[in-house]
Amino acid sequence: MTTKNTSGRGQRELRVRVKTAKGRKLSSTLWLERQLNDPYVVRAKKEGFRGRAAYKILELDDKFGFLKPGCRVVDLGCAPGGWCQVAVERVNALGQKKNKAQGTVLGVDLQEVEPIAGAEIHQLDFLSDDADEKVKGWLGGRADVVMSDMAAAASGHKGTDHLRIIALCEAAAAFAFDVLEEGGTFVAKVLAGGAENELQALLKKNFTKVANVKPPASRADSSEKFVVAMGFRGRSREGADDE
Ligand SMILES: C[S@@+](CC[C@H](N)C(=O)[O-])C[C@H]1O[C@@H](n2cnc3c(N)ncnc32)[C@H](O)[C@@H]1O
Repeated sequence: MTTKNTSGRGQRELRVRVKTAKGRKLSSTLWLERQLNDPYVVRAKKEGFRGRAAYKILELDDKFGFLKPGCRVVDLGCAPGGWCQVAVERVNALGQKKNKAQGTVLGVDLQEVEPIAGAEIHQLDFLSDDADEKVKGWLGGRADVVMSDMAAAASGHKGTDHLRIIALCEAAAAFAFDVLEEGGTFVAKVLAGGAENELQALLKKNFTKVANVKPPASRADSSEKFVVAMGFRGRSREGADDE
């Protein structure tokens, strides 16, 4: 591994170059190089977050302010746990801010997640038949925020990946309609690609404000964006398509 000043202007912008190694594919070398040069990766390590994804929810919350002390949060697709870490801190799930309400964070993922103080985490395929009921049971009531960063492993086919993420997003939205408190917030990752229009229309009927955002922490070369739907109108409007 070597470092190189890439600015050419004498500034301290050192870029890490990774040499190809025997047994390592070029794609792995390029991935490693990108990780080592990504300021969000460096910052996450320094600030104790489990991944750069933490900054996406931090930036979304800085803009929209949905993670408030006392909020009950469900985090779908939470591994390795960056969003949960942010939520625990912002909703005061550990009760460290004594003069503020104490919230809760419930995370689920296909993968096992190392425990996070202040969060309850379960391993679960959210697309399995009884997933909604299981999560509702763990939640034991309503939620103020349902957020989903779920993404299936990339297939290499753009259209397939897009449809898969929309399916995950629709499952998350259906769950949100079921458990959100009136006024609640739904946040989900989507990929730009067209098939999200139906979902957008449904969200617009069920929430007072729907925004599509690409936070700075989301890589510019990724087609991912986030939908932030705030002000849940309540269950009587669920699936309403008669207007
Ligand atoms: C981009 S990662 C989430 C990162 C997370 N927000 C964080 O901050 O650490 C996407 C996650 O979605 C999960 N996932 C994909 N399909 C899922 C499913 N059907 N049920 C539960 N989790 C799923 C993956 O296992 C993966 O951990």
